[in-house]
Amino acid sequence: MSDFSPTLFVIVGATGDLTRRKLLPSIAHLVSRHGWQDGLHVLGLGRTAQSDGEFRDWARESLEIAGVDSEIISAWCDSSIHYLSTEGGWDAVADKITDIEQANDLPGNRVFYLAIPPGAFPSTIDAIAATGLNEGPGFTRLVVEKPFGHSVESAHELNEHVHAHFDESQTYRIDHYLGKETVQNLLVFRFANALFESSWNRSLVRSVEITVAEDLGLGSRAGYYDTAGALRDMIQNHVTQVLSLVAMEPPVKLEADAIRDEKVKVLRSIQPIRPENVVFGQYESGVVEDEEVAAYRDEKNVADDSTTETAVSLRLHIDNWRWQGVPFYLRTGKRFPERLTQIVVRFNEPPVRLFEVDGACEVHSDAVIITLQPNEGFELLFDVKAPTEEMRLQTVPLDFRYAAAFGKLPGAYETLIEDIVLGDQTLFVRADEVEAAWKLYQPILDNPPAPEAYAAGTWGPASSTKLPHATGDRWIEETR
Ligand code: BG6
Repeated sequence: MSDFSPTLFVIVGATGDLTRRKLLPSIAHLVSRHGWQDGLHVLGLGRTAQSDGEFRDWARESLEIAGVDSEIISAWCDSSIHYLSTEGGWDAVADKITDIEQANDLPGNRVFYLAIPPGAFPSTIDAIAATGLNEGPGFTRLVVEKPFGHSVESAHELNEHVHAHFDESQTYRIDHYLGKETVQNLLVFRFANALFESSWNRSLVRSVEITVAEDLGLGSRAGYYDTAGALRDMIQNHVTQVLSLVAMEPPVKLEADAIRDEKVKVLRSIQPIRPENVVFGQYESGVVEDEEVAAYRDEKNVADDSTTETAVSLRLHIDNWRWQGVPFYLRTGKRFPERLTQIVVRFNEPPVRLFEVDGACEVHSDAVIITLQPNEGFELLFDVKAPTEEMRLQTVPLDFRYAAAFGKLPGAYETLIEDIVLGDQTLFVRADEVEAAWKLYQPILDNPPAPEAYAAGTWGPASSTKLPHATGDRWIEETR
């Protein structure tokens, strides 16, 4: 990671929701936190024709809504936010960039952030290269939002397209889960604590469960989501990223490529996922958090006979020394009962059933529950003797919550944008990593199971509930 050097942050697709809700507020928070008022300029590019002033008004409003300090808004917005419509062509964009850099004495460091639909990635990358903007006097970095491809083949083609004009060291593929503080903490939790480091393997771990549940439904994204589905939208990226951080070996150094090497090795060690261990679901109407909600097929712009999956549960095995024989359960779904991203690592039961009472063994597996969001924290579940006359065991938690210890955590985009500007690629997905993740799921995409219905407000279809039973496990909500 290098020190900060003044930079022009070019957002392609600047009039969209991502810019308003995440990018501008995150950049403004960084400006405020690091005092980068004179050094971090933003150029918004979009199809809409509008002046710098009109874009600044819109930006100011977004920053106010996001609660950015009003002094920063007035000090930074007017001098450092610029706009140009791409309708005038990329030569005009190049001229505008040169003008901004000269007027503000910037050294020519450029970040191109593609906040546009994936179909427009290749032509935009070509346009940047055709005007020579990828070879500026300073550093040039390309940031690509997900989805990065929709299959192993399309991801490979896109990688080749990117590499025709940008080196991998200039390329930042975003998976916003990697920016979440609790996701980054997984490495610290595992490798800075001898207790967990020494128990994180097949000798002591009986199973691992990763759930990314959402209470929300489709929203207004049918156009994208109905062609993607939950496997592409969540499992291939966010859930798989969490899986690789949970399962990877310690890196030789705390450096971007050393960490990413280990993540890729995990993906390559996963056995082909068996079709009988994959369950697709689609939500019917139901009640989520006391509100009646419609079925997926009744959502706006979704076909009455859509077979898109809104939930996926699967079991996989990692074929390496550490994890041989340990089942990993991955699960995601929309319209589940609550928003919850959680990892449950269950430990083996003790070898001798010392506390068996009347033939029934009361001992439960100890477990570590890592809640990545919301109410971020850790619980260590273990058994104690309940203070009753007869010998009775009860599972109790040791509990740690981030909010109590540290207050509010920084947003994922703030962390990621800071790393892009400072040139740290650790939290970005490398080309081989993205392709290895697609490769893992391609057979399921090629032969998808028919989705089973589940009522909105439940944890997915019946077959998903049963999936861990085959190995004697149960999802966490069945045991608490
Ligand atoms: C996005 C998916 O990448 O992540 C959405 O496209 C999903 O469908 C979202 O809702 C979840 O992100 P978070 O940070 O709210 O868990």
